[in-house]
Amino acid sequence: MPSYKLSPDATRKPGPIVAGDPSERGTDRLLLGHSAEAGPFREVWLDVSGEQVIAAFGKRGTGKSYTLGVLMEGLSAGCGDSRIAHLETPRGALVLDIMDIFWTSTLALGDEGPPQIKKQFAVMKKRGFSSMPLNVDVWVPAGYERPDIDPPGVNPLFISPADLSLDDWGSLFDVDIFTEPRGMLIADAVQHVSTDGYTRTDGTQAVGFATFTFAELLDCLNTDADILRNYQDTTLRSIRQRMTSYAALPLFTGSGTPLGNVIQAFRTAVLMLGRVPDALKRVIVAVLLRQILRIRRDVSFAQKRIDLDASLSQAERHSLEAFVSSGLPRTWVLMDEAHVLVGTGQSSVASAAIVKYAKEGRNYGLSLGVATQQPSALDQSLLSQVETVISHQLTAPQDAAVAAKGMRSPAPTQIQIDGETADVDGVLRRLSQGEALFSCGNAPSLQRSCVIAVRPRITAHGGYEA
Ligand SMILES: Nc1ncnc2c1ncn2[C@@H]1O[C@H](COP(=O)(O)OP(=O)(O)OP(=O)(O)O)[C@@H](O)[C@H]1O
Ligand SMILES: [Mg+2]
Repeated sequence: MPSYKLSPDATRKPGPIVAGDPSERGTDRLLLGHSAEAGPFREVWLDVSGEQVIAAFGKRGTGKSYTLGVLMEGLSAGCGDSRIAHLETPRGALVLDIMDIFWTSTLALGDEGPPQIKKQFAVMKKRGFSSMPLNVDVWVPAGYERPDIDPPGVNPLFISPADLSLDDWGSLFDVDIFTEPRGMLIADAVQHVSTDGYTRTDGTQAVGFATFTFAELLDCLNTDADILRNYQDTTLRSIRQRMTSYAALPLFTGSGTPLGNVIQAFRTAVLMLGRVPDALKRVIVAVLLRQILRIRRDVSFAQKRIDLDASLSQAERHSLEAFVSSGLPRTWVLMDEAHVLVGTGQSSVASAAIVKYAKEGRNYGLSLGVATQQPSALDQSLLSQVETVISHQLTAPQDAAVAAKGMRSPAPTQIQIDGETADVDGVLRRLSQGEALFSCGNAPSLQRSCVIAVRPRITAHGGYEA
């Protein structure tokens, strides 16, 4: 590993480096690793007392998914103190796992078992860590379970069709809802079954219900007198056909899984999305993020009334408290390969929901952690929300430029790598696997970006080639 000597000192005071909260509260912290620079041993902690947006960059195989896994492990370590985290505030986490590599956190490392476990155990043990069980639950969109290969205990996630926005419907059917006849047909059908109701060709009436099913949408497409009059047969046929295949998906049956069952305080839900077709993946991500934002917006509003409104009666206070506890805890959303869902120039329902979540979420107790191998391909409006950057090795000039420009701490005034003068680009090119340049805009005592070695994982890392 190269030897790094950077000036000035990373912080004015010696001891652990703790960064991530503008007020340096330190009530909630995750162990990221230690300083990889010349000098005394210093742990590096991410202060997660407040909400934030954090990004891990790095070219293939340099440690991004591993680092995201380190964050996830810390968030799943439970209330109180452990070797990898100190957590007081109830928070949940949701991993939107498009590669299906994070479920492995349910597996402890040990010196017995398959060779891969023993290998990862040896790395962990050499660096003085031990494994512990974490609070991780695994979910998969209903219908995409694979009992023949899945580990036990995978939970099916259901989504209510009523939670889809018109844009989601457009995305699902790959049509423009506002300009294409097929899109307008879907919009009309949704409007009729959810709100207006409709008259069937046999003269019977159907009443609109906010919580509707695919079966009701199909009934509307088959029998709604207005719709049958206003749309051509080819348009009707094509939408009915696709509606029928979506109606058959277990994902959309029933009333939708309450998010409170999925996201729970001091626990992480890993949602495996690898098997789900892209169009559906985008809609699921959009629906979930919008729901989280909506629920947390209301919960934090109610919490502020409890905190600030001295005129509340006892009964009002109790009812607000009940509302808060029936909502969602503060939440971290973690996403690997983020450029896939929120890439430059993409205007998908998922990217819109992710950007909105990143922009507005902090006010409502919502944090975001993303990883990408191509920071230059990440949506600008998401990048601009990032306060903490953990950049592993980057060699492509356009990506290194984005990472170097995006450093959130002042640059070091002097850098030497193996005794030779270098610049930030030089550091980014030289970093070894698991090392990263760490910078944070919310760290008053951090005087500059610093080179860190990310700690070993204490549960199985699933991001290797198999
Ligand atoms: N902090 C670390 N400590 C020990 N080993 C690490 C560390 N970071 C990464 N590694 C090793 O590097 C390998 C690749 O890491 P990782 O899966 O995170 O790569 P990646 O950057 O996500 O790559 P890809 O772009 O291919 O997804 C891991 O399987 C692990 O063996
Ligand atoms: Mg990866």
